[in-house]
Amino acid sequence: MAEQQIGIIMNGVTGRMGTNQHLIRSIVAIRKQGGVKLPNGDVVMPNPILVGRQENKLKALAEANGITRWSTDLDKCLENKDDTVYFDSQMTSFRTESIKKAIAAGKHIYCEKPIAPTLKESLELARMAKAAGVKNGVVQDKLFLPGLIKLKRLIDSGFFGKILSVRMEFGYWVFEGDWQAGQRPSWNYRKEEDGGIIVDMFAHWRYVLDNLFGEVRSVSCLGATHIAERVDEKGERYNCTAEDAAYATFQLEGGIVVQANSSWTVRVNREDLLTLHVDGTEGSAVAGLRNCKSQHRVNTCKPVWNPDIPNPFNFTEQWQDVPDNQIFDNGFKVQWELFLKHVVCDTPFPWDLLEGAKGTQLSDLGMLSWLERRWIDVPELTL
Ligand SMILES: NC(=O)c1ccc[n+]([C@@H]2O[C@H](COP(=O)([O-])OP(=O)(O)OC[C@H]3O[C@@H](n4cnc5c(N)ncnc54)[C@H](O)[C@@H]3O)[C@@H](O)[C@H]2O)c1
Repeated sequence: MAEQQIGIIMNGVTGRMGTNQHLIRSIVAIRKQGGVKLPNGDVVMPNPILVGRQENKLKALAEANGITRWSTDLDKCLENKDDTVYFDSQMTSFRTESIKKAIAAGKHIYCEKPIAPTLKESLELARMAKAAGVKNGVVQDKLFLPGLIKLKRLIDSGFFGKILSVRMEFGYWVFEGDWQAGQRPSWNYRKEEDGGIIVDMFAHWRYVLDNLFGEVRSVSCLGATHIAERVDEKGERYNCTAEDAAYATFQLEGGIVVQANSSWTVRVNREDLLTLHVDGTEGSAVAGLRNCKSQHRVNTCKPVWNPDIPNPFNFTEQWQDVPDNQIFDNGFKVQWELFLKHVVCDTPFPWDLLEGAKGTQLSDLGMLSWLERRWIDVPELTL
């Protein structure tokens, strides 16, 4: 068994996603487990260099995680031929320029979603990567959530019959930052820094819907900035210039209707931060992040509208859990492993920058629908 090192430039790892999901729970976890096993029995071991702006933060993060390399000089890192992969989890607004440099330096690209703030920039990146012949991929973590894997299993089994509609509820209350710190960075609430829930979440909804139910064909969207003022990380008040909620309807190929509420201004009264309720002719299901429950047509009760008597049904008890039947690893880590295998031995990796650009296409069209107060068709996207 031979071990091969793969040098990865990790930019933006001091951030929320970079530190927790990509560094600690993916790359460090892969190193601790002894690397990624390749189909021929060899092993590929990630060798990261952490890149950012503040040396003290990078040094502390590297030391805490047994990593010896860090740098504040991206250009210099890109010159190192041994580091063949560039990863980006910076704030969205800084991603495009850094990825362009990395492609120009011949690096394979893996990055957070959205790959860029607009479709124009996203397509440019996808085209550049193709022209340069570098491997490329985008994080599509929700596909690897246990709840959605179980939902996909139901879909593949034909459980639903004909799928009619999907109701997606995403969100939670993000504190305003005055008397309790906000759980999300303040740039999320500033349009001038490419914040806003539409650009953030539609990037997810596109691949979730395309992969599970069918391609998104049209969108109608209403955004809202419910909280006008928040307090940032330094304790300073700022005006919220980006929407914190989006109320959208999507039509998919085959006629499936999807309602998707995305909100950072909702108090949770459901089983999870994201739930997908799917109704089909033969059965229904509700998936959360880890769980999925189903109700077949033969188990469906027959309510009759009568507010004059107490409700005789306990509706929530009428669902059955879909069993795990497998072990679920962290979704970010699973996707990292697939990407590294793709780089090293060309195994399939369908979630490329073009797929990422489709996410940005949906957010662009969602914004346009809101602005122009109308339905918008989603054209096919090609390179
Ligand atoms: N896949 C997911 O579920 C998911 C969830 C949340 C965020 N994200 C995406 O991940 C990315 C990072 O989000 P986050 O919540 O970790 O943000 P964050 O603000 O916590 O981290 C952003 C990173 O960008 C860096 N950065 C900030 N200002 C910079 C500047 N002026 N120049 C260069 N770098 C700068 C920070 O140092 C930090 O490393 C975003 O693109 C976001 O859309 C993905």
